[in-house]
Amino acid sequence: MTVTIVGSQLGDEGKGRVVDLYGDAADVVVRYQGGDNAGHTVVEDGTEYKLSLVPSGVIRGKVGVLGNGCVVNPETLFSEIDALRERGLEPDVRLARRAHVILPYHRVLDGIEEDVKKDDDLAAGTTGRGIGPTYEDKAGRRGIRVGDLLDPDVLRDRLEYVVPQKRALAEDVFGIETGEEFDVDALYEQYKAFGERMKDEDMTVNAGDFLGKYNDGGKNIMFEGAQGTSIDIDHGIYPYVTSSNPTAGGAATGTGLGPGVVGQGEVVGIVKAYLSRVGTGPLPTELHDETAEYIREEGGEFGTVTGRPRRIGWLDMPMLRHAARANGFTGIAVNHLDVLAGIDELKVGHSYELDGEELFTMPSTTERWGRCEPNLKSFEGWPEVDWSEVVEQGYDAIPDNARAYLDYISDELDAPVYAVGVGPGREETIVLTNPME
Ligand code: IMP
Repeated sequence: MTVTIVGSQLGDEGKGRVVDLYGDAADVVVRYQGGDNAGHTVVEDGTEYKLSLVPSGVIRGKVGVLGNGCVVNPETLFSEIDALRERGLEPDVRLARRAHVILPYHRVLDGIEEDVKKDDDLAAGTTGRGIGPTYEDKAGRRGIRVGDLLDPDVLRDRLEYVVPQKRALAEDVFGIETGEEFDVDALYEQYKAFGERMKDEDMTVNAGDFLGKYNDGGKNIMFEGAQGTSIDIDHGIYPYVTSSNPTAGGAATGTGLGPGVVGQGEVVGIVKAYLSRVGTGPLPTELHDETAEYIREEGGEFGTVTGRPRRIGWLDMPMLRHAARANGFTGIAVNHLDVLAGIDELKVGHSYELDGEELFTMPSTTERWGRCEPNLKSFEGWPEVDWSEVVEQGYDAIPDNARAYLDYISDELDAPVYAVGVGPGREETIVLTNPME
C-alpha cells in the first residue's frame, strides 16, 4: 500500500515528524518533487540529523528514493550521505535517472532573479538553492538529468549547448561577471566525477520500474511530499510559489507510478495548527502583534534551510479546504497544537470576504487572495499542560477546548484526525491511526 504525506499549507507543517513516525512500517520512502529547499530535522537516539534532500527515512534504515520529479544537487546529496556515514549510518539512497540536476549556474541565477524581482515585489523569497531555474530548464528541454551524468559524452554535449546560453543570460541580461559556475570545462570535470561516484555506488535507478517492483510485491511505499499545497506551482499562490507540485498528484508524475497507485492509498494532509510562512506574498490571516511573537518563539518558527524568522498567522480554513480537495485527504495530522497553549482566545479564518461575497475556498489569483478579509471565528484557548502525560493517556486527555479546535478542522475538511503533534519529538505525538499498519 502507499501513504502520501502532503503539506496542506505553506510548507513547514511538520511533515518530517509524520514521515518519521509512519515510515517505520514503510519499506521505501520516496520524495517526488523539490530538492534541497526542504528541511527536515530527525532525532534518533538523541542524535539530531538535519537533512534537506535525502529522504529522512534512510536514518531508520529505509531505502530512500529521489524520484524523477525531484531536482538533485549532487553536492548536497553527497555531503548529506557522507555526514550520515560519518555518524555510523549506511544510508541507502537511490536516484531517478530522470531526475534533473541542479548546477552551480542555477543557484547563481536564482539569486540574481530574486534580486531583480524585488523591485517589482515579485520576489518569492526563494531558498536560493537554484530550484526554480532548474525546473525552468527542465520545462525548456535544456536540463541535465541524473542519467546524463553517467555518460560523459552526453554530459559534454548538453553542457556545450546550455552553458553559453546561461552565461549570456547572466552577463548580457543581468550584467554580472561570471566565473567557474558558467565554465563548460570546469562543470564537465566536476559533474562527470559526480556521475562516476553515482555509478560506483550503484545509486541510480529507473524510479518507476524500481518502485513498481515494490508495489507489485505488496510492499509499503511512503511518498514524502516537501513544501506545501499553497506553494505548489499550479495550486499555490503564484508567483510566490516553489516550482514543483507538492500536491498528491505529483506523487504519480514524480515517481513513475500510476495515479491509481497513489489514489488507492492514503493521502495524509499535514496541518500546522496555525500558519507560518518563510516567503513573500499576501497572507490574509497574518498576525503582527504580540501573539505572533509568542507563537514564533514557542514554535521555534525560524526557517530550517535559511534561518529566517517566519511570518505567522491564524489558521486559514479556505486554504485548508482548497488543499483537502486538491489532494483528496483521507486523513489529517495536526501539528504544533502545544504551541497555541496559553493563548486566551484563538482565532481561525473561517471564510473570506471579497467584494461583498463570502468565499470558502481560495480564489485562484493571488491578487484577489491578497484582497480577502478573513471572517474570523473565535475559539477559547487552552492552558499549558503536561503534554507527555497527554501523549501517554491518549486523545481524550487533550484539553476540551483543544479538542473542539481539532474537531472543527476535521469536520470542515471532512477528514479524520490521524495524529496530533504536541511537541517537537516524534514521541510527542498522539497517534489515532497509522495508515501504514
Ligand atoms: P524555492 O523553492 O527555493 O524556489 O522557493 C520558492 C518559495 O517556496 C519561497 O517562498 C520559499 O520560501 C518557499 N519554500 C521552498 N521550500 C520551502 C520549504 O521547505 N518550506 C517552506 N517554504 C518553502
